[in-house]
Amino acid sequence: MNSPLLAPYHGPVLRLPNRAAMAPMTRARADDATGVPTPIMTEYYTQRAAAGLIVSEGIWPHRLGKGGPGVPGLTGPAHAEGWRQVTRAVHAAGGRIFAQLWHVGRVSHPDILGGERPVAPSAVAISQGSVFTASGPQDYVIPRELPAAEVAEIVEAHAAAARVAMDAGFDGIEISAAYGYLIAQFLSDSANLRTDGYADHVRFAIEVVEAVAAAVGADRTALRVSPGNPLHDIVESDPAARYHRLLDALDGMGLAYLHVVQSSGRYAALEGLRPRWSGTLMATFDGPEPGGLGRAEEAVRSGLADVYAFGRLFLANPDLPRRIATGSPLNPLRENGMYEGGTEGYLDYPRLTG
Ligand SMILES: Cc1cc2nc3c(=O)[nH]c(=O)nc-3n(C[C@H](O)[C@H](O)[C@H](O)COP(=O)(O)O)c2cc1C
Repeated sequence: MNSPLLAPYHGPVLRLPNRAAMAPMTRARADDATGVPTPIMTEYYTQRAAAGLIVSEGIWPHRLGKGGPGVPGLTGPAHAEGWRQVTRAVHAAGGRIFAQLWHVGRVSHPDILGGERPVAPSAVAISQGSVFTASGPQDYVIPRELPAAEVAEIVEAHAAAARVAMDAGFDGIEISAAYGYLIAQFLSDSANLRTDGYADHVRFAIEVVEAVAAAVGADRTALRVSPGNPLHDIVESDPAARYHRLLDALDGMGLAYLHVVQSSGRYAALEGLRPRWSGTLMATFDGPEPGGLGRAEEAVRSGLADVYAFGRLFLANPDLPRRIATGSPLNPLRENGMYEGGTEGYLDYPRLTG
């Protein structure tokens, strides 16, 4: 089938064999005590090596950035060794893989952080929903407000984790600034009530991007944003103005790509940001149903996006590009094993044979 998703992409930095990327998805199969990846994770990513680019699940760059049991880390040699198994196998299967650095800030719990209180721009708790811990769902706690010196440490932790990622063989870094986690908390009006220099909502995001780019190269650095997305009590009074300002600071750095999550019924981020981004733009539509092929094809065909990242469709269809090429039916998503567990719902989605 003649899908624009299957055309190779030769951008200013990235060269990809197709435009169907795999979006970052937390699957919580790392060793919980250490955050070291387990062997089933190597198999999971290798099954999906036909993606134009794999973006890994979110990985904590600092011990206080962990968002749940079984979430992997990237802070030391044991993490590097575990991830090296993944990157080697993905490369041997012909794929490319970026590591998503994911500090969750206040979207955590002392039970996940060895008894320590989660950190955030300000001491404001998430008022609704619950956080999943080893003993089940719990209410969010009031986070500890980060002193400026500790903000600088977290910026440096992102750079250090990016260096570990390079040592582990990743092709690049995607920094998570989406979905209400730490960087998105700084970007918001609801979680960032600071009166110091970080009252400038975009400052922390820019500092993290600059630090990671200085550590591993701008051409290996990417950023994921979800303008206007309300997840985790996020309010952005004027997403257009805020993200335009962020892009004004970052466009021109020569980053690998900007990953824009466009949320249904919210600010039309792709239309707003595309004209302001001269580099590669990766898109994901976020809504109750998995992002559909038709909409993704239209985004690429129209030039709104250069590359499209599928989450749930890639979770359920390890060989998604081949299914697009042959017009084959897509496997349905199963809830079982989606966010945690072992091999079930993880390694057992069927691939086309022959
Ligand atoms: C199981 C699961 C885990 C996810 N984990 C992450 C994550 O670690 N980091 C992130 O930025 N987005 C995460 N997401 C969001 C996806 O990357 C994507 O933006 C969202 O699922 C919408 O795309 P889709 O409709 O193609 O699934 C996750 C989504 C799912 C379904």
